[in-house]
Amino acid sequence: MKAITTRRYGSPTVLKAEEVPDPVPKDDELLIKVHAVSLNQANLVLLKGKPFLARFAYGLLKPKHIIPGSDISGVVKAVGKQVKRFKPGDEVYADLSNYGFGTLAEYASVPEEALALKPANLSHLQAAAVPLASLTALQALRDAVRLQPGHRIMIYGSSGGVGTFAVQIAKAFGATVTAVCSKKHKENMKLLGADYILDYEKTDLTKYYRSFDAIVAINGYQPLATYKKLLNKNGVYVMVGGSVAQMFEAMLLGPIFTLASSKKLGNFLKKHNTEGLAELTNLIEEDKVRPLVDRVYPFQECKEAFTYLDQHHAYGKVIITIPN
Ligand SMILES: NC(=O)c1ccc[n+]([C@@H]2O[C@H](COP(=O)([O-])OP(=O)(O)OC[C@H]3O[C@@H](n4cnc5c(N)ncnc54)[C@H](OP(=O)(O)O)[C@@H]3O)[C@@H](O)[C@H]2O)c1
Repeated sequence: MKAITTRRYGSPTVLKAEEVPDPVPKDDELLIKVHAVSLNQANLVLLKGKPFLARFAYGLLKPKHIIPGSDISGVVKAVGKQVKRFKPGDEVYADLSNYGFGTLAEYASVPEEALALKPANLSHLQAAAVPLASLTALQALRDAVRLQPGHRIMIYGSSGGVGTFAVQIAKAFGATVTAVCSKKHKENMKLLGADYILDYEKTDLTKYYRSFDAIVAINGYQPLATYKKLLNKNGVYVMVGGSVAQMFEAMLLGPIFTLASSKKLGNFLKKHNTEGLAELTNLIEEDKVRPLVDRVYPFQECKEAFTYLDQHHAYGKVIITIPN
């Protein structure tokens, strides 16, 4: 089959199109014909081997997962002997970042536990945009900040892959949403349902007058002390993504701020869970959440797709389509 490979760490120029053997599913796996794949910042970490710490998981000197890509939407072609929930012909989607990546290819072997039925109202191209980014947003809102109807939430860096899902999921949960994005995305945030929209280039959050039950930082940077000030008594802040400084502040200062006040501040890491994907399928089929697709690239233009994602200015998701 045709696949994109990364046999050494580097920029998108190390990506190559190659013929590789077809995957052979184990007894608990399914063979999936891949239709579309979406890219996430995690795919850039695997491509570049940066930050260096990631190499302890992905291979110290060269990538151990040679086919990149983790979000997938496709059709079941064959099932292993132990597979119970799916049959050939089913349309499925998954996030394989915890299962060895390997989706930028014509076929992928996928463990049954990683898969969910694709939302019926989405094309494969749209469905591929959903798994990792939306699961991250769902878990950050539902499990980390425990968002409740009526809560006021700030979503900082709301216009990317994770942020566009976070705004919609927060609205579906009945929260009042303040989205922080650049000027060019203000109108888009309104369309997604945000109640208040702040331009990150113009707003001085140290002087901002509203306070929040929850703050989720997804892109960009603000001092942790500023976020702490913006939280209500018992408010919760989680750092999902953004600058490295943001991550270290949340990791090191978060526990200290938490001990010294009634507020809770810390990092968040997405866990794999297919049950979350089933919950998202419901929200999507009820039209409460929809994936935002910024750009679509054909398989042969993978390098361009990774390069675009690496600029950190996508509105929603970047998709690669796989030829039949
Ligand atoms: N913790 C976890 O488990 C987990 C899981 C998934 C992702 N992440 C992390 O979450 C982060 C976001 O992922 P993503 O998929 O949303 O990335 P993304 O799609 O690449 O984000 C792009 C968006 O970021 C916005 N942005 C860029 N600079 C900004 C700034 N200074 N302030 C506010 N917004 C800014 C851009 O808007 P403009 O073009 O308008 O600037 C663009 O819309 C990444 O750091 C990723 O590694 C963490």
